[in-house]
Amino acid sequence: MSSFTDFIAGIPKAELHLHIEGTLEPELMVAIGRRNGVSLPYPDAEAARKAYNFSDLQSFLDIYYRSTAVLITEEDFYELTLAYLKKAASQQVRHAEIFFDPQSHTARGIKFETVIRGIERALVEANRTLDISTKLIMCILRHLSEREGLEMFDNALPWKHWIAGIGLDSAERGNPPEKFRTLFERAHQEGFLTVAHAGEEGGAASVRSTLDTLHVSRIDHGVHCMEDENLVDELVRTQIPLTVCPLSNIKLKVFNSMTQHNLKAMLQKGLCVTVNSDDPAYFGGYINENYIEAATALQLDRNDIIQLAKNSFIASSLSTVHKQLYLKEIDHYAFPTEQVTI
Ligand code: ADE
Ligand code: ZN
Repeated sequence: MSSFTDFIAGIPKAELHLHIEGTLEPELMVAIGRRNGVSLPYPDAEAARKAYNFSDLQSFLDIYYRSTAVLITEEDFYELTLAYLKKAASQQVRHAEIFFDPQSHTARGIKFETVIRGIERALVEANRTLDISTKLIMCILRHLSEREGLEMFDNALPWKHWIAGIGLDSAERGNPPEKFRTLFERAHQEGFLTVAHAGEEGGAASVRSTLDTLHVSRIDHGVHCMEDENLVDELVRTQIPLTVCPLSNIKLKVFNSMTQHNLKAMLQKGLCVTVNSDDPAYFGGYINENYIEAATALQLDRNDIIQLAKNSFIASSLSTVHKQLYLKEIDHYAFPTEQVTI
């Protein structure tokens, strides 16, 4: 490793766009599948990995939901979540805001309680044993109806003390934010943090309507905002964060190659962009691989990396005091011999 990749690997960072079901590595998927008697379309982990060639978001989602079906017991969700947290902590992730897709489990007859108890047990253990804090964001599947989303939302309310936010994911095309207006009104009334995927496969208009209709605090992906200058100006002024996922965007053909990714252009515009791994078991890398591959292809420099790491905490839902502590930690890391004041 060069000293620059070492620098990237070691910088304290937050991860804000991570689907826990997307961290199911083929080895764990095969092991849990065998344990639970769930058959998979792959003879082994290697064959699964080879099959992970996607043409777009939907082709990925089809495989992702099928693989998710191995998860049945509380122990499965616990094991999955703890494996991710160990990996994240080893890559200097100090804080993770983690998505989960309960409807992909309840639709298979798994109780919401089973899912959330398993995840929560791993979060508590990681908070105790690893240097990482966490928040949980419950995502609503946008290919399903708002009525089904509202049912999920109501069923989750007794577990509200474990849920920090409500998100919106799955197929963006054909499922506009307007479909979930009432659900997000409810989420605001209940005091949740709100975020939504937009501008991944959808264009700038999708980012605009998500902000105007759902009033979310962060946009997940958002890369297509760059097609609309007025929208970019507004996002720069408001500093509404965009949680970008470089490797995901390449694997799902949002960009043809990493050299064509617009992350650097977004940074140069002054947008509050962050780097995240989305579904690392499927896209070829966790957060450090995302930083390193983007930095290499786009010739990001030390200052860009520092800015991205700082943005990840600024864009988080941590308290101001915690944000300041992490920003200070980054300054100490990046400028060890200087007296830093913030
Ligand atoms: N669910 C898991 N990963 C996703 C992505 N990249 N976009 C939308 N929904 C998702
Ligand atoms: Zn995502």
